Amino acid sequence: MAGDPEEPAATRRTADAAESSRANRGWWDRNADEYQEEHGGFLGDDRFVWGPEGLDEAEAGLLGPADALRGLAVLEVGAGAAQCSRWLAARGARPVALDISHRQLWHALRRDSEAGAAVSGGAAVSGGAAGSAGTGGAAGAGGAAGTGGSGTVALVQADATALPFRDGSFDLACSAYGAIPFVADPVRVMREVHRVLRPGARWVFSVTHPIRWAFPDEPGPEGLSVAASYFDRTPYVEQDETGRAVYVEHHRTLGDRVRDVVAGGFRLLDLVEPEWPAWNDQEWGGWSPLRGNLIPGTAIFVCERD
Ligand SMILES: C[S@@+](CC[C@H](N)C(=O)[O-])C[C@H]1O[C@@H](n2cnc3c(N)ncnc32)[C@H](O)[C@@H]1O
Repeated sequence: MAGDPEEPAATRRTADAAESSRANRGWWDRNADEYQEEHGGFLGDDRFVWGPEGLDEAEAGLLGPADALRGLAVLEVGAGAAQCSRWLAARGARPVALDISHRQLWHALRRDSEAGAAVSGGAAVSGGAAGSAGTGGAAGAGGAAGTGGSGTVALVQADATALPFRDGSFDLACSAYGAIPFVADPVRVMREVHRVLRPGARWVFSVTHPIRWAFPDEPGPEGLSVAASYFDRTPYVEQDETGRAVYVEHHRTLGDRVRDVVAGGFRLLDLVEPEWPAWNDQEWGGWSPLRGNLIPGTAIFVCERD
């Protein structure tokens, strides 16, 4: 609420890489419990959902045929509670779930312990600074990825802009709304993902569909009228009473996203805009059946490393 010193104020202003990273790490740590409480049921414990429309990888097959996932070393970027990685592990893949937020990853551990599943806890990297994870995490996560395949998920806390893995460590990378909408320099993430993937590997990620930035983030009719320029790349920032950012999202146009992918060294194989399915009557923030039937809410980029 405006004027309330407890509540952050929303604005549009610049936010550099360091400010975005610090703000978002804090926001996800503070809000992970509420996020998982609110969305955990929809995401499921071990489903791979690409976005609020509910497009499920089990049907979409954007990572390739499910039976070809067996044995692959997979990096999930911005994994949250690692639901997608758990789905991958159940298909015999060897996923590493990476996230900047300690509390999001804690929920991955909690779910695994509740389910009684084996967790490669030794690979979890806490402390989080990408620099420290870069030395400690690389060995731990690499080792776990190399020995998985039995339903385990390795967890790594690090920033997607500085991946703590050796070159060519992974056969596949994916992200369902993880990290990319939140970083100031998405090309840096593309280049990092390119570096850790083997030649010819696939990289599939979903983000908020860029057209959504022109509309108010409201699920009802008020979210159907253009209220801002689609071309305005000024970040969305929530800041405290001292002007310190506590949450940041970065806008890129569709063309920007394509150029980011290419600049990162990838070929774009497909751009998927999931339609809102008849079965989904759930709202997720500004995503709703009303808007989903009229304008796209999610863009999924299916890319291949050179
Ligand atoms: C919307 S959630 C997506 C996670 C999961 N797929 C889901 O649907 O819950 C975004 C995730 O990206 C993570 N994230 C944000 N910025 C990041 C960064 N720079 N590096 C790594 N992860 C980041 C957040 O901590 C959060 O867990």
